[in-house]
Parts: sequence; structure tokens; C-alpha cells
Amino acid sequence: MRVLAIGDIVGKPGRQALSKVLPELKKELMVDLVVANGENAAGGFGLTIPVAQEIWTSGVDIITSGNHIWKKREIYPLLDGEKHLIRPANYPPGAPGRGWTIWQSNDNIRVAVVNLAGRTFLETLDCPFRLIDTLLSELRQQSDIIIIDFHAEATSEKIAFGWYMDGRASLVFGTHTHVQTADERILPQGTGYITDVGMTGPRDGVLGVDRDIIIQRFISQLPNRFTLATGDVDIMGVWADIDPLTGRTFHIERLYRTLT
Ligand SMILES: [Fe+2]
Ligand SMILES: [Fe+2]
Repeated sequence: MRVLAIGDIVGKPGRQALSKVLPELKKELMVDLVVANGENAAGGFGLTIPVAQEIWTSGVDIITSGNHIWKKREIYPLLDGEKHLIRPANYPPGAPGRGWTIWQSNDNIRVAVVNLAGRTFLETLDCPFRLIDTLLSELRQQSDIIIIDFHAEATSEKIAFGWYMDGRASLVFGTHTHVQTADERILPQGTGYITDVGMTGPRDGVLGVDRDIIIQRFISQLPNRFTLATGDVDIMGVWADIDPLTGRTFHIERLYRTLT
């Protein structure tokens, strides 16, 4: 089973680049399952129903998310109703949506896709380490492969979580920083791991946002309105080959393309 995980899609430039590149990419890599983080897909912050549909149409199977998923309230009903869209599982009980879902391949391989958020420099959510422990037996009953989007800021928290899941998840990939890390590897017990897959968005800004606006924000220390950067678009992710019989990753590779 080949899984492709795509980093945070940033606004229209990110969506357009993805819809241009993904169909070819799926053929070229012979990908079975595509997971993409959509927390920044609508105008850079949050997600809307038409934007989610556009992402699915471009070839993504499961949309994961993160701290920015709550920015546009119109997505809340879709979070509740649609099993191909998830948000971090460690939000308090009562938050809209679900934190994990099961996707099934044509040859009946069941993949649990889980979304969790880190807590360092982010909201004080429930502990993702303790939460995954409570979820694992149910996930194992319902799936052959477990993949986790760990949406977090601190590299240390992400690496610690990767080690914590070694041998218990097939693939742990980080999102949220929008910067791809070069540390993809297979941990000793067979868990594929990368600290951050990066983003899918304009490369000449700051994490996808217009660079002058962000520079001014750092200088003035005052809030200002964000607009997205323009120009070339990066498409970043990671793909992994996972044995459904053992749940172990046996190959992992970074993806970094630029659409000019
Ligand atoms: Fe993001
Ligand atoms: Fe985020």
C-alpha cells in the first residue's frame, strides 16, 4: 500500500497547484491513498465546504487539519457529517467533527487515518500521547494500517511522538510548520516518520503569506491583515510503502516539487 501525505494546502495557489500536479503524481507514483492537510486551504485560514470539495475532486482521499480548522465556522457541519475530513482528536469532548476515520482500499485494506495536535506553543489540548494510547486498541480492531498526522509546532514534541508510536503506527508525519524537514526515516520497529512534510503553497512568502506583511508584523508588533503570497508554488509531502500484513513501512521518501 502506497500512501502519499501532502502538507498544509495554502489558499487558492496551493489548491490550484495541487489539482494540476496530483493526478499525474498519483499515476507516476502509483499511489493508493492520498491524505492532505487542509487547515489553510480557504484563503490561508480554515476550510469551507466548496474548498473541501475542490480538494477531494483534485484526488485527495482524506483531508486532515489542525489548529486553523476552526477559523471558518461554516465548515462545522461538514466536520460533523463527512468522514473524509478530520480534525485533531485531542480537542475537548463536544468539539465538532471527529479525530480519526477509516478508509478502505479496493482490495479491502483498511487504513485508520488519525489527526492529533501537539501542545507545545499551541492550544492546551488533551495530551496526544495519552489519547493515542486510549484509541489504539479500537484502531487496531478496525484497521490494518494506522497513519497519523501529528500537527505540531515543536520539533522535539514531534520527534518524541514518533518514537512513542514506533511499532504501534505505520506512519507518523508532521504538519503545521509549513517547512519540510529532511529527517524522513523508518524507525527500528517499522514506523515511517518525518517531522514535517511542509506545505503546498506560494514559496516566495512566509509560510505562504505575503512576505512584506509578515516582515511589517515582526517590525511593528501590530496585527495586520494577511494576504497570500503570489508566484511559484511548492508542493511538499512524503510517500511511504506500507506492508498491510505487518503494518510496517518499508520505504519512505520526501516529495518536493515546484510549479512555476
Ligand atoms: Fe498550517
Ligand atoms: Fe496549524
